[in-house]
Amino acid sequence: MKILRIFSFISVFVIMDCCKFNAQVRSETDRDVWAQFTWFNKTDSEIFKFSKYGETKNFTITGTICNLSPTILKSWEQFPKKGVNPVGQTSAHLEGMGGTIYYKVFPKDGPAAVRSEGMLCSWGQCRLGK
Ligand SMILES: *[C@@H]1O[C@H](CO)[C@@H](O)[C@H](O)[C@H]1NC(C)=O
Ligand SMILES: *[C@@H]1O[C@H](CO)[C@@H](O)[C@H](O)[C@H]1NC(C)=O
Repeated sequence: MKILRIFSFISVFVIMDCCKFNAQVRSETDRDVWAQFTWFNKTDSEIFKFSKYGETKNFTITGTICNLSPTILKSWEQFPKKGVNPVGQTSAHLEGMGGTIYYKVFPKDGPAAVRSEGMLCSWGQCRLGK
């Protein structure tokens, strides 16, 4: 009985403390592109800028239950001040421990999730060409 209770405590703990994964964003252009994440917890990341083809930025996402809300990546061709619309966005529900999701930003199109490895991606755009 006591052992059972300890086990259920452990499994609740595992379910509650469960996401940590990486996101890598890579630029596919030599033009300047700005981008920003809105995380699953509704907070925005800093605005980050790319100025070279192949430039990457890495992020670590941690939380409890990351897939309740989508993680969104937007990109802009100019610094995103008021009145400047993003060129597009990509969105998906993400969850996992230790995996990585790869994104690309493009000069004229919105950003895209290219693939995810070792983690879950659902309810959204998770692969290039989809
Ligand atoms: C991001 O991670 C990749 C792969 O681990 C690495 O090659 C790249 O240099 C990193 N980029 C930055 C800006 O740290
Ligand atoms: C939301 O999640 C991001 C990514 O893990 C984290 O950097 C940020 O601090 C979180 N914000 C809050 C208010 O917990």
